[in-house]
Amino acid sequence: MDIKKLVLPHLFEIKPYVPGKPIQEVQRELGIDDVLKLASNENTIGPSPKAVEAIRAAAAGVNFYPDGGCYYLKEKLSAKLGVGSDSVVVGSGIDELLRILCVSCLGPKDEVIFADPSFVMYKISAMVADATLISVPCKDRYYHDIPAMLDRVTDRTKLFFLCNPNNPTGTIVKKADVELLMSKIPEHVLVVFDEAYYEYASDPDYPQTMEYFKSGRDVVIFRTFSKVYGLAGLRAGYGIMSEELAGVFHRVRNPFNVNELAQVAALAALDDDEHVKRVVEANAAGRKQFYAAFDAMGLEYAPSDANFVLVDIKRDSEEIFNALLKKGVIVRPGRFLGFPTGLRVSVSDEKANARFIAALKEVL
Ligand SMILES: Cc1ncc(COP(=O)(O)O)c(C=O)c1O
Repeated sequence: MDIKKLVLPHLFEIKPYVPGKPIQEVQRELGIDDVLKLASNENTIGPSPKAVEAIRAAAAGVNFYPDGGCYYLKEKLSAKLGVGSDSVVVGSGIDELLRILCVSCLGPKDEVIFADPSFVMYKISAMVADATLISVPCKDRYYHDIPAMLDRVTDRTKLFFLCNPNNPTGTIVKKADVELLMSKIPEHVLVVFDEAYYEYASDPDYPQTMEYFKSGRDVVIFRTFSKVYGLAGLRAGYGIMSEELAGVFHRVRNPFNVNELAQVAALAALDDDEHVKRVVEANAAGRKQFYAAFDAMGLEYAPSDANFVLVDIKRDSEEIFNALLKKGVIVRPGRFLGFPTGLRVSVSDEKANARFIAALKEVL
């Protein structure tokens, strides 16, 4: 069979997502046991012990399908965020919710706006829907250029992605810029706030976008259990949106899109504020540890409100990435992220951060 004739032609234009290199792969390929992965902005401190206990308790029941409606998780998120539970949609990570949104809203000739560089799944999911990509270069290397992004809005624009904090730069779009965006964006455009790193943001100028939702604006807010809650391996994220749009998500999603263990772990994680606090504090300290080291090494970095830092090593990132791998440290080379001389490194605990810093000094 000619697969080229079978498959929709536009899908061949998609470059597959390149994930962070898995620990086991480095162990296998390089024969190194003690591998440190700082490549995928995971929470390396780990999940809440309460979540681990909930997973254990639920493990023997996985012969049953999960609750496809995620009733308890939606109720809990609704109470926590002060929004109706019918406005909460849970998915197998934000990744799945982005895909559902794109295939539900976009078709050929529809336009979607996002920053460049930003989270690559906006591009991939919009390409699956064969939409027209409008990527707007960041200003001063690291920052969403809201006026320039607004200039690109047309009658055909349907989705406007704002990644806040932004991946891979870690920078935020501040309140005033979000206010500007919300005052200018035409009614036919849905503003999508991707707040995967929401809990890590510490800048007092970080906007509380839930207020726009609560005041009836057409926005979608995505958050996740993969980052601060440390449940990336289970896949759970959620979106806050109008009930009408949530109804569309329920039509399009798979019936059991969030597995049982993810649901019980997420519920338990929401009960452990202490753990979240510990993770956020360790992360803030870790960012400072990185900044101090990069300052001492004379390396420029983007100020981060997330759990990773993008640093300019002023050398080919692929070469330094490979040299770090040989020392058992996995980071993300900037080549795939729009920064050929950048490394994106996830923040970990003090000891792990120090190991990365020492390795970086050696390889540079
Ligand atoms: C900005 C951003 N959005 C979404 C995701 C995906 O999140 P999830 O694990 O919930 O699919 C990531 C993952 O790195 C991310 O950086």
